[in-house]
Amino acid sequence: MATLIVPRLHYYCFLLLINIALVFARPATFLQDFRITWSDSHIRQLQGGTAIQLVLDQNSGCGFASKSQYLFGRVSMKIKLIPGDSAGTVTAFYMNSDTDSVRDELDFEFLGNRSGQPYTVQTNIYVHGKGDREQRVNLWFDPAQDFHEYSLDWNHYKIVFAVDGVPIRVYKNHEAKGIPYPKTQPMGIYSTLWEADDWATRGGLEKIDWSKAPFYAYYKDFNIEGCPVPGPANCPSNPNNWWEGPLYQQLTVEQARRYRWVRMNHMIYDYCTDRSRYPVSPPECTAGIY
Ligand SMILES: *[C@@H]1O[C@H](CO)[C@@H](O)[C@H](O)[C@H]1NC(C)=O
Repeated sequence: MATLIVPRLHYYCFLLLINIALVFARPATFLQDFRITWSDSHIRQLQGGTAIQLVLDQNSGCGFASKSQYLFGRVSMKIKLIPGDSAGTVTAFYMNSDTDSVRDELDFEFLGNRSGQPYTVQTNIYVHGKGDREQRVNLWFDPAQDFHEYSLDWNHYKIVFAVDGVPIRVYKNHEAKGIPYPKTQPMGIYSTLWEADDWATRGGLEKIDWSKAPFYAYYKDFNIEGCPVPGPANCPSNPNNWWEGPLYQQLTVEQARRYRWVRMNHMIYDYCTDRSRYPVSPPECTAGIY
């Protein structure tokens, strides 16, 4: 028996190694995978470059982006949002194909609020240039008290937005029903902190209080595992990538239970049920969301 098993194990390890070499591994520092895109005086590196501080003041906000684009995979970061009075501020974490009229985009936008009022997380999905798919969730914890993990999982089967591993949004691949799904354009990873008090908090009623500036948000534990583009051409379609595996093709029973819990208890807006915008529910809303 053993003589049979050992070579197979070797072969399996060999395949695993090849697979690890083709995909991107966990980076050590911010600057390894990211570059500053807006106002480097407003982004400070902390703890040897493994964490950063984003600054918003009356002069400027700031932003950063990944050096590479990726086609499928998993992106996560731990973020600690602006504490206290953050009304009128928006902290965003998103993926974007940067292809104008046909762009694909997956957005997390954290909308600040007055002290003691809940932060709102707005998500949106653009596929082939078409967006207007906003959903809003109020978080079940204070996201300015501690770091929490925000992640995007993207494979051939579905896209999952999660907070500390709890799915808050799922966009399934319903191409078989004629519903568009992003799968050909690689996307970069972006983040910005800026002032948007014309719309962000209570629809623009609450203005930013500059006497509380500067405002600080913190990021750490940057993690990208995916197929870099340019990169090995056969990576995106490789069914052996871990993010394409059976555990990631549909929500587990436990994930589905948590997702239902978020939708029942914490969702405050869903474009799918906004009859003034969509008299008829858009097709992706009725095609099955679990
Ligand atoms: C801010 O707090 C108000 C009052 O609790 C709430 O209605 C609103 O959804 C919160 N979020 C935003 C972004 O306005």
